[in-house]
Amino acid sequence: MIEVKNLSKKFGQQLVFENVNFSINEGEFVSLVGPNGSGKTTLIKMLMGLEKKTSGEIKINKSSEIGYVPQFRNIDLDYPLDIKNFVTLNQKFSFLKSQRDQNKAKLNNILNKTHLTDLQSRPLGLASGGEKQKAYLAQALINDPKILILDESTASMDVDVKYQLMDLVSELNKKENITVLFITHDYDLTKKYTNRALLFENHQINSVDVKSISEDMFE
Ligand SMILES: Nc1ncnc2c1ncn2[C@@H]1O[C@H](COP(=O)(O)OP(=O)(O)OP(=O)(O)O)[C@@H](O)[C@H]1O
Ligand SMILES: [Mg+2]
Repeated sequence: MIEVKNLSKKFGQQLVFENVNFSINEGEFVSLVGPNGSGKTTLIKMLMGLEKKTSGEIKINKSSEIGYVPQFRNIDLDYPLDIKNFVTLNQKFSFLKSQRDQNKAKLNNILNKTHLTDLQSRPLGLASGGEKQKAYLAQALINDPKILILDESTASMDVDVKYQLMDLVSELNKKENITVLFITHDYDLTKKYTNRALLFENHQINSVDVKSISEDMFE
């Protein structure tokens, strides 16, 4: 699904990582772990074509729709959209009634899956942190992605909401075979949900079995 060969990234003189090699198979649930500034967000931006590589190769299944839940989500209190409209921003508008009906059914299905049905009319700016994150997840899911990338999406959530969201992602991973890349600083979540981790360290990215990961690798 994703293959990276001899990939290097520099910002000016600053080396982020060098000669990195790894691949990710369809249906995997992989965590990306490593200290602040080690290049996790930069790597996924490169996978999505939002950031240039310095050298090397990135091969990614062309037909793969990518759903992305970004790391920073500052939303003004007076943000004009409610949750439902925010989620549908990613949906393509159609003049065909049949297509619009399909879109609507899809939306309702996603709102239901992400436990947002009862909250759909709430202005996004007034939603809690966890609710906002669910809305971002729903927005990422609306186009049936083959790859879902979560960048620390659970960071500011309370424990229950965090596990609820991760359970949902795990279910999508298993039932719909969505490949998940999960960037996290959370040791327990890494252990619970992922089998393999890409460890960002000393300008390298190494694939490790989650069993071999210890808590002191997390800050
Ligand atoms: N556009 C940019 N221009 C210059 N430097 C950048 C840019 N984007 C990121 N960097 C630098 O590249 C390094 C990697 O940043 P990145 O955001 O990928 O880290 P990260 O692993 O996601 O960290 P965190 O865990 O804190 O989110 C950092 O030193 C950062 O300051
Ligand atoms: Mg980051």
